[in-house]
Amino acid sequence: MTLRIGERAPDFLASSTHGELSLHAWGSGFWIMFFSHPGDFTPVCTTELGRTAQLASEFARRDVKPLGLSTDTVADHRRWIDDVNRTQKTRVEFPLIADPDLRIARLYEMIHPQEDDRQAVRSLFIIDPQMRIRLTLSYPLAVGRNFREILRAIDALQFTDKHAVVTPAEWIAGDPVMIPSGVSSEAANEQFPQGWQEITPYLRVTVVK
Ligand code: BEZ
Repeated sequence: MTLRIGERAPDFLASSTHGELSLHAWGSGFWIMFFSHPGDFTPVCTTELGRTAQLASEFARRDVKPLGLSTDTVADHRRWIDDVNRTQKTRVEFPLIADPDLRIARLYEMIHPQEDDRQAVRSLFIIDPQMRIRLTLSYPLAVGRNFREILRAIDALQFTDKHAVVTPAEWIAGDPVMIPSGVSSEAANEQFPQGWQEITPYLRVTVVK
């Protein structure tokens, strides 16, 4: 099964550093950043886990709960988190799922056998409070992700949901946005009484506070 944007995130029950956890019950009412890393006690993963912990207040401000996963055990996760806290000068407070039998990694297609057949690649799912998958990302084992870019994309998802607009390349909160192609000029006048600028008929820019 391929998990695509717009599909319901499959629920599961799993062991984690915070005990038994059901995805849907644990994440109820929140956005979720569900992300895998290949292995505990490895360099890139240590920085990724640390960076996510350092950005805890940024995720919380957006009602996003981070949830990690690897195919290591809970005991390994606990020992490794001590290293992450010490070396990355932070405190990992979010749960890490232990998936040594690859059950959830397979369910979420985090195992890419050309890369590794026992370890998850760096997969990431942004899941909304209705438990719909809204964004997916796969990075290879050797390349760490940019969690500031993830936060930027979450801002764009939440803003476009709220205001029925679309965001240009590299948009950051506060920048002008664009009117979707399907919206007529009459509808745009009603929806955006503050005004909008037509650059071409399909490039219409407005500012939403
Ligand atoms: C790392 O996190 O550094 C890493 C993990 C697995 C394979 C390669 C690199």
